[in-house]
Amino acid sequence: MFNFEYWNPTKILFGKGQIPAVAHEIPAGTKVLMTYGGGSIRANGVYDQVRSALAHCRVIEFGGIQPNPEYRTLMEAVELARKEKAEFLLAVGGGSVLDGTKFIAAAIPFEGEPWDIVQKGAGVKSAIPLGSVLTLPATGSEANPYAVISRAETGEKLAFSSPHVYPKFSVLDPETTFSLPPRQVANGIVDAFVHTMEQYLTFPAHAELNDRFAESILQTLIEIGPKTLANPKDYDARAAFVWTATMALNGLIGCGVPQDWATHMIGHELTALYGIDHARTLAAVAPHLYRVLRHGKAAKLLQYGERVWGIREGPDEERIEAAIRRTEEFFESLGVPTRLARYEGVRAETPREVAQRLKQRGMEKLGERGAVTPPVVEEILRRSLAA
Ligand code: NZQ
Ligand code: ZN
Repeated sequence: MFNFEYWNPTKILFGKGQIPAVAHEIPAGTKVLMTYGGGSIRANGVYDQVRSALAHCRVIEFGGIQPNPEYRTLMEAVELARKEKAEFLLAVGGGSVLDGTKFIAAAIPFEGEPWDIVQKGAGVKSAIPLGSVLTLPATGSEANPYAVISRAETGEKLAFSSPHVYPKFSVLDPETTFSLPPRQVANGIVDAFVHTMEQYLTFPAHAELNDRFAESILQTLIEIGPKTLANPKDYDARAAFVWTATMALNGLIGCGVPQDWATHMIGHELTALYGIDHARTLAAVAPHLYRVLRHGKAAKLLQYGERVWGIREGPDEERIEAAIRRTEEFFESLGVPTRLARYEGVRAETPREVAQRLKQRGMEKLGERGAVTPPVVEEILRRSLAA
């Protein structure tokens, strides 16, 4: 097992009817900037619940944070928060609202150009405290220090991380997710699945407990994913899904193990170029990446096939291929295509273009072994496009 530090300060308020608990987490009289997206929280009643819970605070609002939160929009919120002297930010929505709010929190006290936070990895020395009410299980943003920000004018989608932007608390009420369209639920299942794979499907590191944490997350997603998609108001299935998605990217399963993240880096470029939903980019990259890198990942692919899918028979190569095929079939069964050719706008030049963009960003050795070089990126995407 590798050395690691583990610290997760986010308090989780989980379950039905937990939104009023926000009242106990923010002191009376605090000036709160409540942030949200394009209106789903007004349609499903979450907005009213949050406003009631904030009755003891001075509240200002900023709505309109887009999916793949946009730098320009977020800077408007930064301006508002600075002018109004906001003391606390409350993000209400999905991963995009949460990520956008983390950026706002870090940008408010930042000296200089806040885009440097994402583009140059400029150190975040402080941030305005934030909390969240999560309405879309997928990203893990509710209990992690990461955010991914897009900038349309330069065609970029970049991540940053800072311990200062861990939410102080996150409300996870599964009932707030009942209004999600099936596409977003399917996306969430795939995103959580691939987060787990990025921290698991590498090489063995004598991390028996962490391997089994990861395998239990994958098995739970395989079991409850289709159930929660088919029966969105089945509270128990949805609650299991919400908690599973949080656990997939709150730092725990990544302790002491090598991590990959190449699928995500390639995926971000596809979203920046074509606007493809985050999880869908992952589905179109991951299986092809596993095939191209199957030799370096062989031991874990065999373990994954055996423990997660029950594949025990046959020569190694066949078992590995079967495990990858089951993964593709699982994503497809949720309605998420695993072939780039099935996404609009993608062209024959896309593989080379994505490889070049990553190269320009200095991302020339991705993956747990640094084996995902620009030619390998190209090969992965060519297979996805041709398949
Ligand atoms: O904007 P509103 O009106 O709220 O609608 C949203 C949006 O259109 C809607 N929605 C959210 N909750 C709903 C709902 N509709 C009905 N009922 C509800 N309860 O869903 C749509 C998509 O929302 P979005 O927040 O964009 O989705 P998601 O949570 O999948 O977040 C994706 C973003 O997170 C980043 C992605 O790159 C992408 O930008 N990620 C963040 C990570 C992190 N912070 O750790 C890690 C991930 O790998 C990922 O990269
Ligand atoms: Zn993701």
